[in-house]
Amino acid sequence: MVLILNGSPRPDGDTAALLRAFRAALEGAFVQIDAYREKITPCLDCRRCAETGVCPIRDGMAEVTRLADQAAGILIASPVYFSCLTPPLFSIGSRLQARYCASLLGIRPAAKKGAVLLAGGGNGAPDGAYRMARQFLRLWGAAGDIPLAGSFQTDCRPAAEDREALAKAAGLAAFLEGR
Ligand SMILES: Cc1cc2nc3c(=O)[nH]c(=O)nc-3n(C[C@H](O)[C@H](O)[C@H](O)COP(=O)(O)O)c2cc1C
Repeated sequence: MVLILNGSPRPDGDTAALLRAFRAALEGAFVQIDAYREKITPCLDCRRCAETGVCPIRDGMAEVTRLADQAAGILIASPVYFSCLTPPLFSIGSRLQARYCASLLGIRPAAKKGAVLLAGGGNGAPDGAYRMARQFLRLWGAAGDIPLAGSFQTDCRPAAEDREALAKAAGLAAFLEGR
């Protein structure tokens, strides 16, 4: 199973167009979580996970964690906001502080694949978003390369018309399914 974490608030926007190409190229099962529809509190730095490796907050993050642990591959898909991932994806990712603490206690997730799909209007580099997504994916167990695909001039041309980006998005599906 491939887990998709979608950080766009726009159901028919640029990230959605890239995700359509990605999903169409998948051969196996997937689950998509739309971060803007979830109620997931950001990390509150309560520091309990430093002792237990587990986050004590009870909310939608438990289901994200369950799916991420089951997945053979995880895709983080997001528009670029101020060179970063969007706020609800940052909230979800901030909860991976518990995974960081767990790793210090010697607890590590199963190895899997990770990839990143970004849409940017062209005003502000995507590097920060890519870097943050890679950090989150590593904490979920992503090993090896974490490839990036994206459309980065959406102010001039919507991602739905960016054929190269759509082809690269489809290529990430094959990568995550190990084909
Ligand atoms: C709050 C906000 C911040 C943005 N910051 C950036 C940025 O730093 N770099 C960039 O290239 N585009 C930026 N954009 C443009 C979006 O990334 C772009 O319009 C994207 O294609 C939207 O994707 P979506 O339709 O999937 O939501 C920003 C847009 C918003 C609303």
